[in-house]
This record gives sequence, C-alpha cells and structure tokens, in this order.
Amino acid sequence: MGEYFIEPGLDPRKDHVLYRDDEHLVVYLGTQEGSEDVDVNSYLIVSRGKGILIDPGGYKIFSKVLANSSKYIDPRNIEYVYLCHQDPDVAGSLPLWREVSNAKILVHWLWTRFLPHFGFEDSKSVTHELPDEGETMNFGATTLEFIPAHFLHSPGHFTIYDRRSKFLFTGDIGIAILDEPYIVVENMEKHIQAMKPIHERLMSTSAAIKLWLNRVKHLDIEAVLPQHGAIIPRKHVGRFFDFLANLKTGVDIMR
Ligand SMILES: [Fe+2]
Ligand SMILES: [Fe+2]
Repeated sequence: MGEYFIEPGLDPRKDHVLYRDDEHLVVYLGTQEGSEDVDVNSYLIVSRGKGILIDPGGYKIFSKVLANSSKYIDPRNIEYVYLCHQDPDVAGSLPLWREVSNAKILVHWLWTRFLPHFGFEDSKSVTHELPDEGETMNFGATTLEFIPAHFLHSPGHFTIYDRRSKFLFTGDIGIAILDEPYIVVENMEKHIQAMKPIHERLMSTSAAIKLWLNRVKHLDIEAVLPQHGAIIPRKHVGRFFDFLANLKTGVDIMR
C-alpha cells in the first residue's frame, strides 16, 4: 500500500522519509552527528495530520529535531512525545518540547515522578503513563502497539510496533556504537560486532531478552529502528533476533 525508502548509503546527518502512504508518514530526523558523544536516532510519525515524536533526544539536538520535524508537521500538531525510557539521551530536550507544543508525554509509569528533574513542573497532568503490560493505541491511520521490553536496559522500557508501516521501534535494543555513522545496515555480520559489546553491558540478563523476543517474533516486521546505531531492514531481522537469542548479557556474564 505504501512506499519504503530504506536504502544503504542514506546520509545519517539528514532527515529522510522512511515510509509514506496517502495518510501516514515515518521520518528519520537526521539526528546523528558523528561526534564523540553518543549519537541518537529520533523519529517522527505523522498520521492523518497528527504527530508522535519518538525519542526526541537530548538538549543539544533540540533545535535540529524541531527544524526537521517542522518540515513534516506544525509542532503544535504533535500530540505525543514518546520516551522509550528515562535516559538523558532520550528525554533531555523534554522541557523545550513542553514550550513549543502541547504534546502529552508517553512514558512508562515509573518515570513520571522523575521527569520534573529535567526541568518542568507538573509532570503528572501532562503524562500519558504506559502500564507494565503495555497498551494498544489507535493513532490517526494506524494502530500502535506499545510492547514491554523491561530491563532492556531500563526497568521501564518500551518498544513500539506501528501496524501501518510495519516498523518496530526498539529503543535501546538493537543499538550499535559505530566508528563511522551510517543509518541503514548493509553488512549484518560486521554490524553485529558493533552491537555485541554494548548489549553485553547494557542489557540486564538474557532472560529479559527472551521474554521480549517472545513478544515480537511473530510480528510482520519491515524494519527494526533503534535509538542508536542503524536501521535493520527486513532481510536482516531474522539474523538480528538470532543474535539476541544467543547472547549472554549483564548479570549472565558479570557478577
Ligand atoms: Fe538508555
Ligand atoms: Fe539510548
């Protein structure tokens, strides 16, 4: 029904439409900078004119994310700013988003009372809390499934399946530390070597990985879109799940 634009060689410093149909759009916001700091991937869904910003990123990339989002939607029409978890690389720009939009913050319930420490008041009234078991939400022309991924790595962590684009937004699962930034995986075996050390350190235990795999492995997935590293296209998703299923992480290897 729609068209995909996921090709190796896309410039990670520029925004790109990744999926488009007549009512629904998914955009990578061009957030990688190739700096010494941890680079992030921020995404935007626009569906029937309503927006959801997925992992807006830290304070320092706010102006870029705002400028690039504004090419696709008036920020006042962004209904939700979603945080897969509480980390500063995901949520540091939140007070600035509170200034330019009336978006509700979508986040696991555990983090609501921590959010004021990012620098704004009254987080309870502006937060849509996700329960432990997740939630299914009709949004514009799509349905979004908020799928629990707790302890991977945060104790309140979510992934999102967008039924319209068939994209799985995986937060800190599937991330990679890249020497040279790229946004679409071409060489999967090389990419796995870039994913392995950070998963071993960040993910609490392989038992949590297995729980999550059981929740997502039946889905029809066009691409995996993590919050760092590169997008894993359909042809490599099986290999990605296989990599995770066989991984020992966190307390499995470090005691
Ligand atoms: Fe994180
Ligand atoms: Fe992260």
